[in-house]
Amino acid sequence: MRVLSVTSELFPLIKTGGLADVAGALPAALAAEGVAMRTLLPGYRSVLAKLGGPTEVARFAELMGGPARLLAEGPDLLLLDAPHLYDRPGNPYLGPDGKDWPDNAQRYAALAWVARELAFDLLPDWQPDVVHGHDWQGALAMVYLALAERARPATVLTIHNIAFQGIFPASLLTELRLPAAAFTMAGLEYYGQIGFLKGGLAYADRITTVSPTYAEEIMTPEFGMGLEGVLQMRAQDLVGIINGIDPAIWNPAKDEHLTAPYDSRKLAARGQNKAALQARFDLAVAPDAPLFCVVSRLTTQKGMDLLLAALPELTAGGGQLALLGAGDAELEAGFTAAMTSYPGQVGAVIGYDEGLSHLLQGGSDAILIPSRFEPCGLTQLYGLRYGCLPVVARVGGLADTVVDANDAALADGVATGLQFAPVTLAALRAVLARAMRLYRDRPAWQQMQQRAMSRQFDWTRPAKLYAALYRDAIERRGLPASAA
Ligand code: ADP
Ligand code: GLC
Repeated sequence: MRVLSVTSELFPLIKTGGLADVAGALPAALAAEGVAMRTLLPGYRSVLAKLGGPTEVARFAELMGGPARLLAEGPDLLLLDAPHLYDRPGNPYLGPDGKDWPDNAQRYAALAWVARELAFDLLPDWQPDVVHGHDWQGALAMVYLALAERARPATVLTIHNIAFQGIFPASLLTELRLPAAAFTMAGLEYYGQIGFLKGGLAYADRITTVSPTYAEEIMTPEFGMGLEGVLQMRAQDLVGIINGIDPAIWNPAKDEHLTAPYDSRKLAARGQNKAALQARFDLAVAPDAPLFCVVSRLTTQKGMDLLLAALPELTAGGGQLALLGAGDAELEAGFTAAMTSYPGQVGAVIGYDEGLSHLLQGGSDAILIPSRFEPCGLTQLYGLRYGCLPVVARVGGLADTVVDANDAALADGVATGLQFAPVTLAALRAVLARAMRLYRDRPAWQQMQQRAMSRQFDWTRPAKLYAALYRDAIERRGLPASAA
């Protein structure tokens, strides 16, 4: 079976969040299930600079405002080299002013258009059985294919975050090669504008999201961000599949970013990582202080405003916080100021640092994830694997992956972290106090760490579920699947 993955991020080439990790890990995981996946990614400036020697496999004289080429790097990676769209510095979505690039509609419509061409006959020797798009950036591929009125592969759209929908003025329809006939409530139209994600959800054969709980949540007004109605109509075609993690990249026993690698039998070595972190974040080097960490985009989605407000309780209880993150200017300033207000107890590194994110998981006692919504979440999965116990809001994938240390779970020996609900300041304060109490019971905490580290969150199970979904989508379209 051949699948084309259409994504705007891909680890290790370009990453702003979990989508990159997922798109990066899927191909190898699916290979074990007999799925040959190729990935189509925009040829951002920083990505092209990292490639060895890509070869040109196709040309477009005109693609959304300029010429473009399709490049292949190795057997499975395709890059859309369109300098007028992607030859820019920095973040894939935002310009230097921190605002969306003004031509994001053209930038991701171009990507989707090339996916459409690949689905037909752009390459003489490779056509996919399934086109799998990710988020609004990959969503228009579903639309172009459904509207093409010719034999086409099956389509699957994955929602990683429904907060980002790709909404653009209706005046762009023609430029984006979208027929006016599709601009209806049952199609692309979203309150008078073009909705990329909305269109994808209307036209994809199957829809997935990244946890079963989020799949339920997004069919409600509280979490659906205006798309709950469309999703309710497509409930039969919607499924939640929890992400895996790449156990080769996230392995505390062989992690070169750690001061002291360790496994669940040598938990004492974590102490060296903790000391290294305390030094790095200008915290008091105190082995017994409960050290909480955050590795996150700094946004209200992630509940970072609540955490800022809970710092008085966290620090009064003797806790420490080491935070790595970037995002909203106000939150960045808030955590930077907190370093001065709580010297030796709150440390923040504003920025993006893959290596430091590993050390935080390998040396902190707990990772805080007070998200208001969380489609899946990966940092709690890394935390489980590293014995950095997740303290999480009971939403989305966080609810599905962490077992709360309530009395019954502790008695049964199944707890792997702490959950709180509702997502309010009062509930966050309470869970912080509960975590610090539990932490002081060293044997109980250690047992939770060992149990957390034994949980399996690799890609084996999700890959099987995706492969089955692809087969089902192909069958429903009545298509024969190619051999490889
Ligand atoms: P989201 O995709 O919503 O941001 P996830 O938990 O799914 O949340 O994925 C976030 C990913 O980005 C994880 O791999 C996490 O370690 C990483 N990450 C987030 N912020 C930073 C940062 N400032 N530095 C390094 N890695 C980060
Ligand atoms: C999104 C979500 C996050 C999820 C990631 C990968 O960025 O916010 O919860 O883990 O996608 O699916």
